[in-house]
Amino acid sequence: MTKQVLIIKSSPANEFSISSEIADYLQSQLQNKNENLTFTVRDLSKTPAPVYDNQILNSFYGDQDALTAEQAAVAQPSLLYIEELKQADIIVFASPMHNFSVTSLMKNYIDQICRFGLTFSYSEQGPSGLLQGKQAVIIASAGADMATPEMQAVDFQVPYLKQVLGFIGIADIKVITAYGISLPHIGSEIATERAKAQVDQWLGSAA
Ligand SMILES: Cc1cc2nc3c(=O)[nH]c(=O)nc-3n(C[C@H](O)[C@H](O)[C@H](O)COP(=O)(O)O)c2cc1C
Repeated sequence: MTKQVLIIKSSPANEFSISSEIADYLQSQLQNKNENLTFTVRDLSKTPAPVYDNQILNSFYGDQDALTAEQAAVAQPSLLYIEELKQADIIVFASPMHNFSVTSLMKNYIDQICRFGLTFSYSEQGPSGLLQGKQAVIIASAGADMATPEMQAVDFQVPYLKQVLGFIGIADIKVITAYGISLPHIGSEIATERAKAQVDQWLGSAA
């Protein structure tokens, strides 16, 4: 059976992006391992998600059967992203750290995909995610080494992404890290190699 892989890139560095390079590597290794995969790449730097503004608020929370053509158009990217997520079996989030969290490109995307009634709902038991049965991979890159105990305390990227994914129903999450890109004793080359080794190890252990 064919499985769908959705890759979301969120670095403004485009062809120089390390997180995107690791995502491309993951894609090629997955392709080698399993021919029955189809890939969709959503590069948020090339096509940014809209900023959540007043127009979007009104179109998301207005009566969905009575939206004006303009309001329906404003909601279109969100519906497209959510459909892509629903179709996907494996979702890869290539995420560079910006100012201790995700890039604004990624944050804007997240604001488009967390939607009441579409990706989460509320009951008396609290919130429940509606995207069930999916696997996520977070490729987290950072200038610092976020794996050290003191940096883990200020990591609002991976814990945040895990929280968002859990909120919309995705509990099976693998984290690949490219840390220490700006540090003289690690640097981009070693950080990238280490991340690719984590990809290989993950694919080697996956059934
Ligand atoms: C605007 C900006 C903010 C950044 N903030 C942080 C940060 O808070 N912590 C950190 O370790 N690295 C930070 N970095 C470094 C990036 O995380 C690093 O360059 C990135 O992970 C490399 O991945 P990319 O090539 O895919 O963008 C920042 C870089 C930029 C451009």
